[in-house]
Amino acid sequence: LRGVVAMDGPSGTGKSTVSRRLAQACSAAYLDTGAMYRAATLAALRAGLGEGATEDEIARAAIGARLESGTDPVAPTITLDGEDVSGPIRGPEVTGFVSAVSAVPQVRAEMVARQHALIRAAVGSGGGMVVEGRDIGTVVVPDAPLKVYLTASPEVRAARRGRQDEKAGRKADLHVTLADVERRDRLDSSRRVSPLYAAADALVLDTDRLSADAVLAKLRELVSA
Ligand code: C5P
Repeated sequence: LRGVVAMDGPSGTGKSTVSRRLAQACSAAYLDTGAMYRAATLAALRAGLGEGATEDEIARAAIGARLESGTDPVAPTITLDGEDVSGPIRGPEVTGFVSAVSAVPQVRAEMVARQHALIRAAVGSGGGMVVEGRDIGTVVVPDAPLKVYLTASPEVRAARRGRQDEKAGRKADLHVTLADVERRDRLDSSRRVSPLYAAADALVLDTDRLSADAVLAKLRELVSA
């Protein structure tokens, strides 16, 4: 794989699983931009911020945070001030606040600049990278040669998220997860900057009845075409 595969869509569509497996199968790097916004959110929470914080306060905490993203699809890592935060960034506190943090324009500008640097490092010398997020095909890499947008109904996505939570040892209540999925969809799709939507030239795949294996097979075909 050469260049960027842009993988967008809401949570629970199997985006992360498929993106990592695609990157592995194609010997490409992998970037989880959601993990970056989550780590920035953890930094804001650790600075004592929460609902009610101003955009300036959030921006200062999130932008001042020292984040490092490891781009190996076999073992992607994310650190905050040198600490591995891959566990805490999936917890309910971060999940509940991340849409507010990622809606702050200064935070997005900073994260996109960092993403561009990571992407340049991976593809600059002829390599490939699978980049997953909400705005990759629309804002971060609008000229990506392959753009994919995964969707699924909120119920299916909440059920998938619930299974992931259980596997990771987090308590999962389907009603709460569904409410969270719908709330984040609403916030992510209606924000002023870089709202979530499918790029006009993205391949839209509805994963309600498509397994991760089936999506992966389709993408591998497209990548090698
Ligand atoms: O993909 P994940 O669920 O980890 O993303 C967490 C949150 O980060 C999303 O709900 C969204 O608010 C934000 N995000 C974003 N832009 C991206 C990736 C994630 O705004 N490119």
